[in-house]
Amino acid sequence: MKVEQIDHPLVAQKMTALRDVNTNSQDFRRLVDELVTLLAYEATRNLKVEAKSIMTPVASTIGVDIKKPMPVVIPIIRAGLGMLEGMQKILPLAEIGFLGMKRDETTLAIETYANRLPLNLTNRQCYILDPMLATGHTLGASINYLSVLGATDITSINLLAAPEGIKEIERQLTDNVNLTIVTANIDEGLNEKGYIVPGLGDAGDRLYGVVG
Ligand code: URA
Repeated sequence: MKVEQIDHPLVAQKMTALRDVNTNSQDFRRLVDELVTLLAYEATRNLKVEAKSIMTPVASTIGVDIKKPMPVVIPIIRAGLGMLEGMQKILPLAEIGFLGMKRDETTLAIETYANRLPLNLTNRQCYILDPMLATGHTLGASINYLSVLGATDITSINLLAAPEGIKEIERQLTDNVNLTIVTANIDEGLNEKGYIVPGLGDAGDRLYGVVG
């Protein structure tokens, strides 16, 4: 497992604005969009490509095209949806799958309540979008879900990550999955309510408003 924290002045400046409690939801959505595009640039560094011959107006040359089967981008509902547009800007031809995960409040187990994914993810590069890697339980369950469908090459793009969550993913990860976590920041840790500190609050609420 590889964890990449993106050290870039634009990422740091946009993340500061994103964290700010005075940033309204319109600006928050725009900043998420811009940050995802910057993180996606790094996250797709190992994107598989194949040779492609083309003609320029001057001569023939050989470049590259994205290798098929196309990668699959999987936003985790709800907050991950706010990252989709930024990802599609950089990877417009990727297929999009959806995964909804929630915690059963009695058993505390993570369960899947929605999914729309290719049935077979063998040989597909998978990009999970979830703004906050907090306890790692949702990401762990998502990775497990994709791995059961055959995925072995998974990149998780998280705006912020907590050390506890990264440790939990390390603990859960099986040898058959090659995982990269790309994040703008690894923060100090989690508070007693499971929020990332200093974090940015509830990412879903800040993107979409509080649902009562
Ligand atoms: N989910 C959030 O939206 N924020 C956190 O700080 C932790 C989990």
